[in-house]
Amino acid sequence: MKTPIRVAVTGAAGQISYSLLPRIASGAMFGPDQPVILQLLEVPVEKAMKALEGVAMELDDCAFPLLSGMVLTDDAKAAFKDANWCLLVGAKPRGPGMERADLLKDNGKIFTTQGQVIDEVSAENARVAVVGNPANTNAMIAASKARRLTADRFTAMVRLDQNRAQTMLAKKAGVATTDVSEIFIFGNHSPTMFPAFGHAKISGKPAESVITDRAWLEGEFCEKVGKRGAAIIAARGASSAASAANALVDHVRSLVTPGQIHSIAIKSEGHYGFDANVWAGMPVKTTTPGAYEVVTGIPLDDFAKSKIAATNKELAEERAMVAEMLG
Ligand code: NAD
Ligand code: LMR
Repeated sequence: MKTPIRVAVTGAAGQISYSLLPRIASGAMFGPDQPVILQLLEVPVEKAMKALEGVAMELDDCAFPLLSGMVLTDDAKAAFKDANWCLLVGAKPRGPGMERADLLKDNGKIFTTQGQVIDEVSAENARVAVVGNPANTNAMIAASKARRLTADRFTAMVRLDQNRAQTMLAKKAGVATTDVSEIFIFGNHSPTMFPAFGHAKISGKPAESVITDRAWLEGEFCEKVGKRGAAIIAARGASSAASAANALVDHVRSLVTPGQIHSIAIKSEGHYGFDANVWAGMPVKTTTPGAYEVVTGIPLDDFAKSKIAATNKELAEERAMVAEMLG
């Protein structure tokens, strides 16, 4: 048996975590031979801590062979102590009529503190994945507080958008989701994101040779991927949870699996025309577990370039809105 790894999860009594924690404990995230210790953080409010106890009771009742231990805490230092992975889910979700950027001021504060504490107490090989919205900018805020951990350790999730785009292309083409590949997300986890259909493949052929309706690809497809979160909120009365948890499993699983090519939001170094220092979605290839390199050279036509310019502009505006929280 391998040595257990420590996985810190914030917002552990929330909606997403309720779907996420059993998946981690079952081995879906780190593999069927990797034991885990879950270090679960909630807010210091009796109701939240009581709910967290209930979640832990249910995890116990699953008798997961890989679950080696659990820490339940409202102290960030205890939650992130020696953590190999820090999964930052805990934050306010938006309600109907709100944009994710509306959450910036409230949620941003959470990530200043957590960025500092993670940098102080987490494991030497710590990796951070941000889910709480607005995810890209929250990852930037947390990374800006780190002095020990380099910025590449802080990623934000756009995998839910990739998965949504994959299913939408599959449905339009009348094929299985597994027949769709190389659909990558560029930019912000917001309606401005760009699902780069020009590069996608369906059954190994360029997606545009199978779905020849370019107006649909540029219009309805891009819009529906970008606004899928709002559509879920309108339907469910609450933001996506099971699919978000599933996307985080995919995000981390791809990041610990060398050779995988997938979309994550990372610190831009100017690739694909993004401003340096914004956290932008783009395709990466995992090199060694937790490490990655940007996939370069994906050709972008004028439409793609204009979409990337728009999502970059929004990311730069979000960065300006939180300027006082950075550094
Ligand atoms: P939720 O309200 O059900 O749960 C959030 C939990 O976080 C609550 O239990 C709350 O007490 C806790 N929390 C708040 N501040 C905290 C802190 N400082 N430390 C620890 N815990 C804290 O919300 P949810 O549905 O689980 O969503 C969580 C976040 O994920 C939201 O911001 C939501 O918008 C976002 N989200 C992102 C994506 C994505 O694709 N990036 C997808 C879905 C949801
Ligand atoms: C989503 O995309 O489902 C989440 O980011 C929740 C939201 O606010 O849209």
